Amino acid sequence: MESIAVNNLSFGYTEHKVIDKLNFTVAKGELIIIVGENGSGKSTLLKLILGELKPQSGSVRLMGKKLEELNNFQEIGYVPQMNVVNKIPFPITCLELVTLNLYNDFGLIKIPKREHRKKGREILHRMGLDEYINIPFNELSGGLQQRVMIARAMINNPKIMILDEPTSGVDEESKDNFIDLIQELNYEYNITVVLVTHEIDWVKERLELDHIYRIEDGGLKDVGI
Ligand SMILES: Nc1ncnc2c1ncn2[C@@H]1O[C@H](COP(=O)(O)OP(=O)(O)O)[C@@H](O)[C@H]1O
Ligand SMILES: [Mg+2]
Repeated sequence: MESIAVNNLSFGYTEHKVIDKLNFTVAKGELIIIVGENGSGKSTLLKLILGELKPQSGSVRLMGKKLEELNNFQEIGYVPQMNVVNKIPFPITCLELVTLNLYNDFGLIKIPKREHRKKGREILHRMGLDEYINIPFNELSGGLQQRVMIARAMINNPKIMILDEPTSGVDEESKDNFIDLIQELNYEYNITVVLVTHEIDWVKERLELDHIYRIEDGGLKDVGI
């Protein structure tokens, strides 16, 4: 079964179609990257896949289900672009940020309980972030923030992980760590990974990719590995 199946998808913010009858599938367990010029529609495509934008025509299925039938959206991990992440407008520790992503389990009174914080600590530990548990997220470097955002997505045991230009503005060493982590998510946890990046050569050297797609004129082309 396909993790992601996009069928004849079209969308535009104006009468100009950013995504134009786009077809695309990602098989379970694949690791793929999407590249393309600035403004070519990469983030728009991800938002359509995640249900943040509504298609004007066509459909998206995740794990065989239409978006509206998917009852556990938390199975989809999303790491947004850095500039968005940075703008968390209130002080929050790494543990709080990660634990809050369990909100579907919080029950009627929507606050995290001891068991949720325990899970939060465990995932931060697994991501090598023990020493940052009680540090305010906003005080971390870009590289560490990205790592925390992955932990945040990982706490729900996602089957699919979608990352939008995760290495922009991240220093070289953190970038190396980060890319190892992505490979590990795919290898060890068998998570389907969709990574949007502009660093095609750099990523190609470091990841075992199944496909490279280029977004162009509203469509996706498999450009080979
Ligand atoms: N919220 C929006 N309203 C209007 N136009 C938008 C909006 N977001 C993106 N666009 C336009 O849609 C096109 C694709 O943008 P985007 O998906 O962000 O591209 P990419 O992520 O590949 O850089 C661009 O021309 C961009 O200016
Ligand atoms: Mg973008």
